[in-house]
Amino acid sequence: MNNEWIRQFIVANLPVLPVPRITDIRLHKAGPQSGLRRLAERDPQFGSPYWAHYWGGGLVLAHYLLDRPESVAGRRALDLGAGSGIVGIAAAKAGAATVHAADIDPYAIATIELNAALNGVAINTMLADLTQGEPPEVDVICVGDLFYEAALAEKVIAFLDHCLAQGIDILIGDPWRAHLPKSRLRLLAEYAVQDFGEDTTRTCPAGVFAFE
Ligand SMILES: C[S@@+](CC[C@H](N)C(=O)[O-])C[C@H]1O[C@@H](n2cnc3c(N)ncnc32)[C@H](O)[C@@H]1O
Repeated sequence: MNNEWIRQFIVANLPVLPVPRITDIRLHKAGPQSGLRRLAERDPQFGSPYWAHYWGGGLVLAHYLLDRPESVAGRRALDLGAGSGIVGIAAAKAGAATVHAADIDPYAIATIELNAALNGVAINTMLADLTQGEPPEVDVICVGDLFYEAALAEKVIAFLDHCLAQGIDILIGDPWRAHLPKSRLRLLAEYAVQDFGEDTTRTCPAGVFAFE
């Protein structure tokens, strides 16, 4: 599916909404009227629309970066598994020198580009599975909600270990999902967030961690 068609679909069908409690950031977000099923009908490659929402891990990490801009200010940042781009946008707003955002889903790449423009920040998108190779030249990797499946978690942990050995700092935001590598983490902050799929009146605890 071509990138321009995806962009037009997003602009036409996913309203721009402020992120709860991070009203500085506005994102295209799917709602009941968005009709994402039409994408699945038209595109056999269409997967789960992670990019159409923000997740508990991304929300908590975005909060943290904006509360503690010194964690990324002046540094080259990578948002790994960027989805909507919420974490990369927060990093850019916090003063990161450059921001890369990587995802394996072309729908995420189109969304990140639209959301970056909406929020007036520059993000260099990468359509790639970076876990299979070398990281770009960055000082800090921000990982929002990437530990939701065992096989993915295993591959992400191996990649993060490789990055750590190169002296790259790693920040993780996660609402305590099953495959979070708890024994490797140092808790930096906790926030209550509204995770995707949860009742909008409820929040759940989520943490920001240094991977060590
Ligand atoms: C649960 S979503 C989180 C999105 C965003 N970080 C947030 O917290 O709102 C996970 C994202 O990781 C992406 N992803 C999955 N495997 C990946 C990989 N190997 N490399 C890069 N992105 C990946 C998915 O396409 C999806 O957009």
